[in-house]
Amino acid sequence: MKPRSETRADSSTSVPSPREIASALEASVFGQRLAVREISVALSKKLAGIAAGNVLLIGPSGSGKTTLMRAVESYLDSDPALAKRSTVIRVHANILGQEADEGAPGERLLQRLLARAQKQLGGDASVAELLDRVAHGIVFVDEIDKIRARIGDLPHIPGIRAQEALLTVMENEKLPLILPASTGGGRTFLDTRSILFVAAGAFEGLYDAVYDRVTVGRDRGALQSVTVLDSEGVREETPFSLRDWLRSQDLFDYGMSPQFLSRFDGAVLLQNLSEGDLLKIFLGAPDSGLESAKKFFARFGVDLVLSPEAARLIAARAAGQPRLGARALKEVFRQVIRDYEFEPSAHAENGALVIDRTEVEEALAKA
Ligand SMILES: Nc1ncnc2c1ncn2[C@@H]1O[C@H](COP(=O)(O)OP(=O)(O)OP(=O)(O)O)[C@@H](O)[C@H]1O
Ligand SMILES: [Mg+2]
Repeated sequence: MKPRSETRADSSTSVPSPREIASALEASVFGQRLAVREISVALSKKLAGIAAGNVLLIGPSGSGKTTLMRAVESYLDSDPALAKRSTVIRVHANILGQEADEGAPGERLLQRLLARAQKQLGGDASVAELLDRVAHGIVFVDEIDKIRARIGDLPHIPGIRAQEALLTVMENEKLPLILPASTGGGRTFLDTRSILFVAAGAFEGLYDAVYDRVTVGRDRGALQSVTVLDSEGVREETPFSLRDWLRSQDLFDYGMSPQFLSRFDGAVLLQNLSEGDLLKIFLGAPDSGLESAKKFFARFGVDLVLSPEAARLIAARAAGQPRLGARALKEVFRQVIRDYEFEPSAHAENGALVIDRTEVEEALAKA
């Protein structure tokens, strides 16, 4: 007989601490310490069976929001003991509006959790086990800013529908759910209040909107310029950080409904990646362009080596394109590596292709 799965209340398995979770996530997420900490605490609580507040991640494009969500997924997947206790799905916010139009809003989200739970638990899982899994699942909703209720002055109907659909799942004590035929079918109700939601979006334009509000708009004068004296002389500066000035009202104005936002424990802001972070990502991220280039060259017996100075130049160039975030690294590195890829061994000496600062400078000068 299959042992009954533990209930969360009497779960005696040890729970990873937030710090342990964070250090695992930091193997693939660089910088963004605050966001990593916040997620790690929520996850540790969740794994302990304790209520965790929903998390809203806001950060520039290419700063690591999706990377962080993926890192949590693979962290949970990497350990069978954890995978057993958590059912995670990641969805693109846009599809929620489409799905809401096709039928019971929110139910499709539960169906996805159910399908995932079934896959994890196998065919002979009981209905009770499956439902327990769904009721305590984790839902990542990416690109949440795409479901704004207004764009400019116009209502954005798919966005309104998607926010409503999410809200249905986030605050419903009893949501109808059709059970899979493999478990005997039928219909039941599911209490969704223990599902953890993590939503993320770039909220493009939010930075400028808040800056305008505190400088020339509604709260004109709130942000004062300061006089800076340094080696370059005296000048006026207006130091602005979204973290200091973002208010809920700014997100309402952006098009997120107050009811929807009230289901989150506040926003966690990711930062623009620094040049140092970019260098670490370039050299160490598991999915960095450098890693895949090394693999490619290795297939032709060539050891691809970048000098530290060459790597630093690439990170510096990428840092000059903050709108792309870490995606700029791939673009810059492509310019550097492109000419060598066609004949991987042609430029190698003693089995190694060494790219130094001169090669990088030449390649970037052409770009
Ligand atoms: N903090 C980070 N740590 C490690 N890699 C990162 C980080 N930020 C970005 N990257 C790299 O850059 C790529 C793009 O990052 P990601 O998809 O996480 O951006 P995003 O914040 O979700 O942006 P968008 O708002 O455009 O969806 C990733 O594939 C990853 O390689
Ligand atoms: Mg993303």
